[in-house]
Amino acid sequence: MEKLRVGVVGVGSVVREIYQYLYFRSDFTPILDIVAVADPNDEFREWFCDTYNIPPPRRYRDYKEMFAQNELDVAQINTPDHIHAAPAIDALKAGMDVVVPKPTASTVKDTHAMIQTARETGRLLGVDFHKREDPRFKEAEARYQSGRYGRFQAGVWYMLDKLLVADPNHSPRFFASPDFAERNTPISFLTVHACDALIKVVDLKPVEVRATGFSHKMPSLSPIPIKGYDVVDTEIVFDNGGVAHIFAGWHLPNTAHALTVQSSRMICSEGMFDIGLDTPGLHEIHPDGIFEINPLFRNFEKDGMVTGYGISSPGRLFQKILADRNGTLTPEMRDQMMTATALGFYTSLVLEGAEESLRKGKEIAEGVTRGIAIDLKALLARELGQSALAEYGY
Ligand SMILES: NC(=O)c1ccc[n+]([C@@H]2O[C@H](COP(=O)([O-])OP(=O)(O)OC[C@H]3O[C@@H](n4cnc5c(N)ncnc54)[C@H](O)[C@@H]3O)[C@@H](O)[C@H]2O)c1
Repeated sequence: MEKLRVGVVGVGSVVREIYQYLYFRSDFTPILDIVAVADPNDEFREWFCDTYNIPPPRRYRDYKEMFAQNELDVAQINTPDHIHAAPAIDALKAGMDVVVPKPTASTVKDTHAMIQTARETGRLLGVDFHKREDPRFKEAEARYQSGRYGRFQAGVWYMLDKLLVADPNHSPRFFASPDFAERNTPISFLTVHACDALIKVVDLKPVEVRATGFSHKMPSLSPIPIKGYDVVDTEIVFDNGGVAHIFAGWHLPNTAHALTVQSSRMICSEGMFDIGLDTPGLHEIHPDGIFEINPLFRNFEKDGMVTGYGISSPGRLFQKILADRNGTLTPEMRDQMMTATALGFYTSLVLEGAEESLRKGKEIAEGVTRGIAIDLKALLARELGQSALAEYGY
């Protein structure tokens, strides 16, 4: 087999920002046949299908009809986080492999159900946490794990988006789903990226989280206000006692020098390292303003091709799925793809823990919620039962 027959479920913002280039203008385009598309949002479905010549009979509102009426090898599930599990599980049960954008799902229960179904059906599940393919994190991972810096003690990370991402009043609206910013949080949209990258570098298990949320800008948006947080500090304690604070928010002025302003500093027993996410290399002074361009993420090349880790991360998942279907994926590579860490389990645990921390917290000043400490082992036992503890190494 030379091409994977792909059914795309959901063609909103992540497809506009990243996957349309993966599918049609990347080094991975030759292995992807975008057969059919399902999305109940008429505007986005028709935009995508008209742009890329998906014929009307293969445009669906309901993914179940698409699965039933097409021969597909892979489903890519680009729906909001809380709608990842049902289509992913349906696809796996129908014999497809599945790729989802981060996070795996919005709850530990959903994430576990997706992992279990993949294991039971023998199909592959791939989660696109694109920072995993960022060369800066790959270098940091190799160096940290060689013992060069000693033991991880403390880390501070931040990821702050421009307000236009969360603001439903901004035109054009960033998200296809009108309620995205209200149903999601900076934790589910941003903290999870940093959390997964951090776990990849230090290879440790999170044991406790506590979040503090600030809600000043979101409720002031007009005419549509958002009931939610501008920025959240998620404190994560790891099983070696190391502590990380991840500040994630989506309320930076739209004049910011990049869509996402971000960085990280890691302090260890034998040294420290900074990952200069904020200074990716191309600094631009232009009549429109001053910008930091990140060609490592998305490199729009002169010939129209798009490269970068935003593309190669999902692209490699598809490559491995194709290799598996052709019988050339080694058992070791298959096993590596299907570990709990690779499938984003610990990040889902941090996500659910941090959101629960805020829900159970109290207001300590106007618009500031101090969350309670959440024991992640207890959360896991409550959500999945005692038997799941050993399975996930607790
Ligand atoms: N937007 C980004 O830049 C970005 C980047 C990385 C990861 N992600 C992740 O991508 C996923 C999608 O986010 P988004 O930003 O594209 O949201 P979005 O709201 O812009 O798009 C989601 C799309 O899914 C569609 N959808 C909802 N229910 C559906 C169903 N049952 N069947 C088919 N389609 C359905 C919606 O109509 C919408 O078009 C989320 O998990 C998000 O965390 C987004």
